Amino acid sequence: MASQKDLIENLKKVCICRGITGGTINQAIRDGAHSFEALRRILGTGTGNCKAKRCRQKIEQRVKAYKDEMNAKADKPANAL
Ligand code: FES
Repeated sequence: MASQKDLIENLKKVCICRGITGGTINQAIRDGAHSFEALRRILGTGTGNCKAKRCRQKIEQRVKAYKDEMNAKADKPANAL
């Protein structure tokens, strides 16, 4: 079950110009969009009036956090808990 913090993160608008929420971006990242440009093509993030000045850094941080999490899981031995 998602924590209250996760729920708020998912509902928060990350790309304000386009009204794209963190949950939508996180789902796209999990589905394989592993760069800002891929998210731009799929969701249209960063294509609003500010031309990604407000959202690019936040989106890139989410992509990096996902990649770091996946790398950490890959580095763990199979029998580690
Ligand atoms: S906040 Fe994303 S394009 Fe402006």
